[in-house]
Formats: sequence, structure tokens, C-alpha cells
Amino acid sequence: MIALGSDHGGYELKEEIKKYLEAQGIAVKDFGSFTPEAVDYADVAYEVALSVAQEECEKGILCCGTGIGISIAANKVQGIRAACCSDCFSAKMTRMHNDANILCMGGRVVGAGLALMMTDLFLTTPFEGGRHQRRIDKIAKIEKEEGRKIIWR
Ligand code: RB5
Repeated sequence: MIALGSDHGGYELKEEIKKYLEAQGIAVKDFGSFTPEAVDYADVAYEVALSVAQEECEKGILCCGTGIGISIAANKVQGIRAACCSDCFSAKMTRMHNDANILCMGGRVVGAGLALMMTDLFLTTPFEGGRHQRRIDKIAKIEKEEGRKIIWR
């Protein structure tokens, strides 16, 4: 199952992606937004990221205006590797080299045609493992170390 989410800036693009995946019989779980009204991208990013991190959904796709805010928010959840992409090469490479588990796109940046191509690449490209596994293990180690810190303010 693929988790989907957006704020108002990515709402229309998210709806296009949802239609596209459902037409292929791919199961989706839509975390909203469900209208074009303004919502805060961090709220939706958190829901989708938890669903992927807890393995309720195998991957996620998030859209906001630029794809940036929603990717920054999703990446705060342990185990999430959210990649903000606006080209096919990056959407493919982030699977091969980063084992990205969430694709983020900007509804004000990319058109639906490009977004659907990136979606296909993201969902079908396998992780290469090998030396790339060592590198993402190091990311996980940073995450763990940072999680242990007591922050005094
Ligand atoms: C909302 O206007 C916009 O800031 C948001 O969709 C996103 O682009 C933030 O990164």
C-alpha cells in the first residue's frame, strides 16, 4: 500500500497521483488533504512518515507547493528517507542509491505528466544495496545518536 499526502499547495497533484495509481489497481492510503483549503504540511508529513516508518505502508508520496517543506518534515521521523525530486533521474537514483521510502514533489514545480513518470520510477526501481547500504546505515547511526541527545535550552 502506498501512503499519499499533501497540503493545499500539492493537493491537485496528489489527487492526480491517486487517480493514476488507483487506475492501475495499486492500493493507496490517502492521509489528505481532502480539499484545497490551507493546511500545514508538517501535520500530513508526520502522518504519512509514521505510516511508512511503522511499515503500514511500503512507500509514501507527499506533495506540497515546492515539495521541500513536506520533505524536511517527513525526514524528522526515524527511518524515513524522503527525497524531494523534480526530475526522473533523481527519482530513479534516490531509489537505487538512497533507498528513499518517500517521494516528495512540488505541485507548483512539476506538471502532472512529469510527476506520474517520477512516481512510476520511484515505485518500480529497486535499491542497489552494497556500498549504498553502508552509507544509509551511517545516516541511521546519525539519527540514533541525535535521538539520544538531551537538548538544553
Ligand atoms: C504553502 O503555501 C507552501 O509554503 C507549502 O506548500 C510548501 O511549498 C512549503 O515548503
